[in-house]
Amino acid sequence: MKCCVIPGDGIGPEVVSAAVEILHHFFPKLQIENAVAGWGSFQDTGEAVPPLTLDKVRACGAALFGAVSSPAYPVDGYKSAVVTLRKQLDLYANLRPVQSSQGDVDLIIFRENSEGLYAGRESLSADGQSAVAERHISKKASSRIARKAGEVAIALGRKKITIVHKANVMPISDGLFRDTVKTTLLDCASHIEVDELLADIAAFWLLRDPGRFDVIVTTNLFGDILSDAAAHWGGGMGLVPSLNWGDNIALAEPVHGSAPDLAGRGVANPMATILSAALLVRYHWRQPKVAGQIEAAVRQTVLNGPHTPDLGGQATTRQVTKAILDRCADLQLEN
Ligand code: NAI
Ligand code: MG
Repeated sequence: MKCCVIPGDGIGPEVVSAAVEILHHFFPKLQIENAVAGWGSFQDTGEAVPPLTLDKVRACGAALFGAVSSPAYPVDGYKSAVVTLRKQLDLYANLRPVQSSQGDVDLIIFRENSEGLYAGRESLSADGQSAVAERHISKKASSRIARKAGEVAIALGRKKITIVHKANVMPISDGLFRDTVKTTLLDCASHIEVDELLADIAAFWLLRDPGRFDVIVTTNLFGDILSDAAAHWGGGMGLVPSLNWGDNIALAEPVHGSAPDLAGRGVANPMATILSAALLVRYHWRQPKVAGQIEAAVRQTVLNGPHTPDLGGQATTRQVTKAILDRCADLQLEN
């Protein structure tokens, strides 16, 4: 087993090393390939994602990514590292599970990860007075995200898949998305209930009654926004994991960013990254029992501490990681 590890910027290295420790606990022979990406890499090498990093991820088939910093203004030659990785490695599905510690919220968002409004085609008019961002929807991409969602829903015994779109104002593009997802689900998951919601009302229901959601399939931008909103029910940004997933290749990363306000202080919550590693274990390496033990150890730590400051405690990243490791060892002995 091999895993490419890309710490990135800010708190990335701090949370990634915690997750690597957990992986090594369960898989002592796991081979780690270190690689760089992000703003630091761009400043050092002129590339946010050097070709060597892409080669290493391809060779390993699996990667664990921390977070990167991106300037919120255009920088010559700089493109978002995460978007580049997703695109270059054809990681077309972004799976984001959200579970509350009480268990009343247990949903999975499947965000289309390769096109939509994040296709990366923006242009400024010659006079600088207007700008256009293209929003791409294709049958191919809509169908493959639906198939992933259908397959996972079946494997996990899920009951309902909700397609989230805005086909009322974008009948051509989101109409194509909705119809393709529906047809694909009918083909690959015909016994699962499928319904649909407009993205704005879906946001309302995510706040009002998140328990009504089971599996959500949606386009890139809506999935990005809805999953950050849903992260609230999962205990906040320090807890919510994600998996960028293609065919036989996966890159796990926490939903949160590089948190410059916390970087270097040793108090970032490592749980989101540890849970992201668990997604790699469950879906890519297909070891659900180990993934379940990692998730249970994190859940026990959420319930009983110790907690980093984002969860109201005073523990360090190190102390929380140690507690999770100890609980992983206990859970292994029990089984
Ligand atoms: P952020 O997710 O880094 O931080 C938002 C808030 O959540 C901050 O208050 C931060 O302290 C807190 N937070 C995040 N991770 C945490 C953790 N593990 N433990 C405890 N608290 C945590 O988002 P923000 O501030 O909007 O962006 C900061 C930088 O990160 C920007 O440069 C942005 O471009 C980048 N970013 C990168 C992402 C990625 O690499 N996938 C995703 C989102 C943002
Ligand atoms: Mg986001």
